[in-house]
Amino acid sequence: MTDMNGKICIVTGSNSGIGKETARALTEMGATIVMAVRDRTRGEVAKMEIAEVSGREPCDIMLCDLASRESIRMFANQFKESYDRLDVLINNAGAVFRSRQLTTDGFESNLAVNYLGSFLLTHELLPILRSSAPSRVINLTSGLHKRANVDFDDLQSKRKFSWRDAYGGAKLLLIMYTYELARRLEGTGVTVNVVSPGFVATNLGGGTGSRLNKIMFRMMRPFQISAEEGAKTSLYVATSPEVEGVTGKHFAKSQISPSSEISYDESLQKRLWDITEEMLCL
Ligand SMILES: NC(=O)c1ccc[n+]([C@@H]2O[C@H](COP(=O)([O-])OP(=O)(O)OC[C@H]3O[C@@H](n4cnc5c(N)ncnc54)[C@H](OP(=O)(O)O)[C@@H]3O)[C@@H](O)[C@H]2O)c1
Repeated sequence: MTDMNGKICIVTGSNSGIGKETARALTEMGATIVMAVRDRTRGEVAKMEIAEVSGREPCDIMLCDLASRESIRMFANQFKESYDRLDVLINNAGAVFRSRQLTTDGFESNLAVNYLGSFLLTHELLPILRSSAPSRVINLTSGLHKRANVDFDDLQSKRKFSWRDAYGGAKLLLIMYTYELARRLEGTGVTVNVVSPGFVATNLGGGTGSRLNKIMFRMMRPFQISAEEGAKTSLYVATSPEVEGVTGKHFAKSQISPSSEISYDESLQKRLWDITEEMLCL
């Protein structure tokens, strides 16, 4: 187990599933964890569970709704006022929206929560990540990105919506963004990698959709790995000395693993960067 004493880590979506297991394990390694969650009560319950199991308390709960630019900026400011360094940022939070719905900022929700929110949060925290280098950013993608395509003319799924395309598409954009950001940060000591956790038994996608969806969701359980198992690759990339200096890679099962062919297209990555900055008014 890596000694993470003295390290400050942010884990988004750490009240549930893979994020909670990641926060628990990092706490056990000695790190100080800021749990970035969108609901204080759910955060407090998870914090108590982590303290009970690990015998240590994660340091803080701070509210961050990744569907809201205002909330992300407030979180980043609060964090920077409270801490003078950031060693690890794990952009773990994610969600599946089975119908097309817009956030208060007017973005399609799969795109907003699974891609735009992590882009903006990382952007806001980059100065402190740079000044704390060597530091690590870990983004959570999904195997579903392999079935997705990039349609710059319809990033918001206005013309055609399917949750698989919208969710998988957002996770593909997150990979492409990871590769572009890693290139832009070369030589700074800030590394950026992306992780596919596998098929994990969590709340993801379970509480939404039709009755049939919910039944199918339950039937999938025997084929899923536990949240503890699902957190292993995030933890490996966040803490292992073997990953020191490694950047711009996709990991699965704690190994570098290829992402889809299109994700490596550098001209698409650069175009995506520009379009995202425009969308977020950066
Ligand atoms: N489970 C899998 O098989 C699987 C496969 C591939 C990738 N992933 C990815 O793994 C990551 C973790 O998911 P999980 O499986 O652990 O699912 P989970 O148990 O549903 O956890 C998702 C976390 O994200 C948070 N979240 C959702 N919307 C948010 C928002 N608008 N702002 C802030 N936080 C928000 C949730 O908070 P609430 O509890 O408040 O909703 C929860 O803490 C996600 O990025 C997911 O896409 C999971």
